[in-house]
Amino acid sequence: MAKDKPCADAIALWSADICRREEMPGEGRARVFTVDGRRIAVFRVEGLFYAVDDFCSHAQSSLAEDGHRCGLFVECGLHRARFSLESGKVMRGPTRKNLRSYDLAIGSMVTATERDALPAGR
Ligand code: FES
Repeated sequence: MAKDKPCADAIALWSADICRREEMPGEGRARVFTVDGRRIAVFRVEGLFYAVDDFCSHAQSSLAEDGHRCGLFVECGLHRARFSLESGKVMRGPTRKNLRSYDLAIGSMVTATERDALPAGR
């Protein structure tokens, strides 16, 4: 009979402190934090924070700096791909590649933890 054993394929998800609490964006704003070579865009919408990769998965345009937020979506300022801020999912091309999204734990420091990757769009 087979015994349970730890899965050798388990991958630890990335997690790191990205900023101090007071550095978080104000209401309706976005801000980029760069940690471990990752650019993470944090958006504040109706008092809640959402974090996704900052660079559009199509051609690396900054979503926080050059994108347009509409509700819980952000539209790339270059070719208008649209992503969910809640999940990083592509809602409209030209790209099919989802963004990584992050859970945020907010104390005196803000810790971002990468969520499990979504399957490719469409
Ligand atoms: S760079 Fe974002 S859609 Fe092309």
